[in-house]
Amino acid sequence: MAETIYILNGPNLNLLGKRQPEIYGYDTLADVEAACAEVAEAAGYAIRLLQSNWEGQIIDWIHEARNDAVGIVINPAAFTHTSVAVLDALNTFEGPVLEVHISNVHKREAFRHHSYVSLRADGVIAGFGTEGYALAVRRMVSLLG
Ligand code: DQA
Repeated sequence: MAETIYILNGPNLNLLGKRQPEIYGYDTLADVEAACAEVAEAAGYAIRLLQSNWEGQIIDWIHEARNDAVGIVINPAAFTHTSVAVLDALNTFEGPVLEVHISNVHKREAFRHHSYVSLRADGVIAGFGTEGYALAVRRMVSLLG
């Protein structure tokens, strides 16, 4: 069975494509999933893309990833800037972690400039739109190689 890369998404990203499209674009999470699957599958990996508005659910999926995933790509959304608990959970994961932001958080409000998750992430992509996810999966494949 192919090894799995988890692609985790935090709050409000279920509305991707409808939510503030001037910032986040018109692609949906289903579009993101298709783009990531193409890159991963071409390299012999599977993906599991998940989204929750609940911090505890994200943490439970990170714990699950400890056994079921070889790498994590995560867009923690607003939890990026608030959650020590998500950071602590990621610190229990032994494989590579890549952080993705659709928008360029550094060009936005000051409260978006700090990321707890960046203390753990092996790389960060911000401001590449939804294309950032597939780029992160490509990088994940080379880190795993
Ligand atoms: C985001 C940026 C965060 O600041 C914001 O809270 C999000 C999405 C992004 O993908 O650009 O919900 O992570």
